[in-house]
Amino acid sequence: MIGTLNDYEISLITKFRSHPLFNQIDRIAWQNLLAILIQRRFLSLSIVNFYEFVIDALTDEPIKRTVRGILNEEFPRNTKGVPLPSHRELLFQDLLNLGATSEMILTTPETLITQNVRNESYQQLVRCLGEKHCQVGLVAFLRFWAEVLVSVEYSCLWQRISERLSSGQSQHKIRSEFYYFHMIHDSRNSDIGQESILGGLTHSQELAIHLKRLISSEEALIYCLKLQENAYQLKCQFYDQFINHLSGSPLALT
Ligand SMILES: [Fe+2]
Repeated sequence: MIGTLNDYEISLITKFRSHPLFNQIDRIAWQNLLAILIQRRFLSLSIVNFYEFVIDALTDEPIKRTVRGILNEEFPRNTKGVPLPSHRELLFQDLLNLGATSEMILTTPETLITQNVRNESYQQLVRCLGEKHCQVGLVAFLRFWAEVLVSVEYSCLWQRISERLSSGQSQHKIRSEFYYFHMIHDSRNSDIGQESILGGLTHSQELAIHLKRLISSEEALIYCLKLQENAYQLKCQFYDQFINHLSGSPLALT
């Protein structure tokens, strides 16, 4: 059964990678790319709420522990326990290093489409409540929306981001602390069911282990496939809003 979920996931990722925006990413004017990343930040800001919702809605202790652990990584500390910049602060810094101004990032309004995608994504989690396969549904949606597809998004956008930020040590470019990190640490990295603890697990893999454990019936499987499809559709809707603005003309978002 897990093989079906795995194959379906791969087919959705393949379709997502060929979204018109990603296909033509090299044609986007720099200012428009920044505008897309600034809109994308609104989804990142909602991640903490999503995780908190799922933690409260989960009754299965082992998954709750995993989800809590992933959320805590959003707020790193040094070895003495002193708080370091959160992942959202690192996102802000990456955007500044890409050439956005603080004012642009802080005053650009969220578009109606971004707002709808964010709200509708949250509602997907709310709708899991009371469903027969609620527990696995919450994990399936969260994993695909907030980890698997995030890594795919950043790997597609990295083609452009890497023009100005580096993945590691570079004399000429500042290191990306947010986009590169999430591209690697959120990625699915292996087929579901083939996770190996050797070398550490990505967030997608940590959650996949629970999916494998919880998908015990055809009915649960179908429910998860539907939630993955919905997550994919919502992410497409987010990027659809930019496809008419691929040339150098300024983005006119509504
Ligand atoms: Fe993550």
